Amino acid sequence: MSWDEGFADRYEEWSAQMTADIPFYVAFARRTRGPVVELAVGNGRVAVPVAQATARTVIGLDSSPAMLELARVRAAAAGVDLDLRLCDMRDFTVDEPAGLVYCPFRALLHLRTWGDRRTTFERVAASLRPDGLFAWNAFAFDHQVAARLDGQRQNTPAPHRVRYSVGDNRIDLVLDGGAKSSLWWATKNEWLGLLDVAGLEVQELYGGFAGEPFTEDSREYVFVARHRRRA
Ligand SMILES: C[S@@+](CC[C@H](N)C(=O)[O-])C[C@H]1O[C@@H](n2cnc3c(N)ncnc32)[C@H](O)[C@@H]1O
Repeated sequence: MSWDEGFADRYEEWSAQMTADIPFYVAFARRTRGPVVELAVGNGRVAVPVAQATARTVIGLDSSPAMLELARVRAAAAGVDLDLRLCDMRDFTVDEPAGLVYCPFRALLHLRTWGDRRTTFERVAASLRPDGLFAWNAFAFDHQVAARLDGQRQNTPAPHRVRYSVGDNRIDLVLDGGAKSSLWWATKNEWLGLLDVAGLEVQELYGGFAGEPFTEDSREYVFVARHRRRA
């Protein structure tokens, strides 16, 4: 398992800086019809506002029981209905094709290999309505930032060390207790290749959640994809 549940108890703090994505994913959910699915739903940080804004049930998948429990509590407190499922995103199915599948906060980077991502993208393609959308974001990797952080110790939200593995395209956050969260970065061409093999194509690519155009200087990929249309 590449994401350690040791991060769950302080997840509010780990995710506190990430708020700009919520209105983005809410807006896309509003544009679609049919079920909404969040891959790696975590504590429901995004799924709860999406459910509130659309009055539709959001199916939230996650492989961590601890995170699903946080989502259950959050949804109950907000009075919304989330359909929470203990499930690996590489192996999910839905009963009814989805209008939107989305994966916030770079969670696809927790998948270790290209094959893991390919399987996930194929599952997404098989789960989308013909007019459905797949939206996700991931950082555009900056080696200079990673090199600066490599080996650094940070004390918030919990004492941890950052480790940078060039050879394995990987960043680790290692808590003092040993719990580890790893992110395997992907290039733009890797994302485009994944869409291609899954029979999907880019509909929109932004450099940020305010709809900034993606440029060579962008540091975030914000992708929106759809089924590939025949030429
Ligand atoms: C950074 S959190 C993102 C949570 C939430 N989407 C958000 O935006 O705050 C990463 C989540 O991915 C989940 N995760 C990691 N690998 C997974 C997998 N293979 N299948 C499903 N969930 C996974 C973890 O359990 C964790 O809840």
